[in-house]
Amino acid sequence: MAQAGGTRGRARCQKVLQISGDRNLRAASAWQPRRRRRRRCRRWPCARATRGRCRWSAWARCSSPLVHEATKNAVLAAIEVGFRHFDTAFMYGTEKPLGEAVAEALRRGLLQSREELFVTSKLWCSQNHPDLVLPSLRDTLKNLQMEYVDLYLIHWPVCVNGPPRFPSKKEDAVPLDFEGVWRAMEECQRLGLAKAIGVSNFTTKHLDRVLAVATIPPAVNQVELNPAWQQRTLRAYCADRGIHVAAYSPLGGQNWDGQGNAVLDSVVLAEIAKARGKTVAQVALRWTHEQGVTCIVKSYNKERLKQNLEIFDWELTEEDRLKISQIPQRKVVQTSSGLFSEEGEFTSVDPAELNNVEE
Ligand code: A2P
Repeated sequence: MAQAGGTRGRARCQKVLQISGDRNLRAASAWQPRRRRRRRCRRWPCARATRGRCRWSAWARCSSPLVHEATKNAVLAAIEVGFRHFDTAFMYGTEKPLGEAVAEALRRGLLQSREELFVTSKLWCSQNHPDLVLPSLRDTLKNLQMEYVDLYLIHWPVCVNGPPRFPSKKEDAVPLDFEGVWRAMEECQRLGLAKAIGVSNFTTKHLDRVLAVATIPPAVNQVELNPAWQQRTLRAYCADRGIHVAAYSPLGGQNWDGQGNAVLDSVVLAEIAKARGKTVAQVALRWTHEQGVTCIVKSYNKERLKQNLEIFDWELTEEDRLKISQIPQRKVVQTSSGLFSEEGEFTSVDPAELNNVEE
């Protein structure tokens, strides 16, 4: 269970969905509101606590009005079907449509108050400088039309000079000031602008560096995680240190490496799905949920949104779990190929320091 600073001891439960149509899109997720939680969950997410109240997640660098509108509509659809946790990021470009959708949901009475939501956003690599953290969070809050985020994450253990851009130029990468940036993150929490703080795409080595200086330890590490990239080492490390793990791409992502989708195309998962009368996506989400990991799953499709919530009233068998544990492992999103353009060179930073792959 994720606990840190202001969130320590508070149960937080979730189920997530993301909306996306292409690589540039990604978004949100929704959690059980804290004030309605009476009992502490043993696991995060907790099926009992989230039944009928789920979260949703999407990402999008949506400069186009069409994508903006699609994102907003998908958030509204997600709220309607029960998602309550929304995961966004400055770089996705989904903060504004998410904020608009929430405002609209409040106007329409789909939500009674902002407190019913759990909203996560993330600090982009170009703002990973101590003096830029707080201004960046203020920009995020302005985009979201909100007074606070429930969780603010360092998006990558990567710092680049220059304006926000994706992909970044290799020569713009500079060493990340883990201590200075984490101090600034802690200040965001102390000011009440982020109820909790954490990281994303961090390996155990990156986490070591944060924990060495942290007054408030990271509440969450959000990473690529699914049956085809199970992150056993990282999960064990985080469990020992009380850091909650959240999974992006729990359905295997969008063929970013051109090698197909190791989750949705998995024969092992398909066999289990057939035997259980579920879809492959549901088996993947259920497995992730059973690991005590929060799923950041996105869909723009209302039927799939609903389907992705139907994972709480059944469970995998021991035999299913054993088969899933033997699925060949393959990480898709890698720092140097994922974040940086192909041309150019790293001049001020050792690319090994940026590596986010660890068995
Ligand atoms: P769609 O929006 O058309 O439903 P990621 O792993 O990067 O989060 O991407 C999730 C992808 O999985 C999205 O493209 C989404 O497409 C798709 N998706 C979401 N839910 C399901 C589902 N239940 N079955 C199949 N595909 C799904």
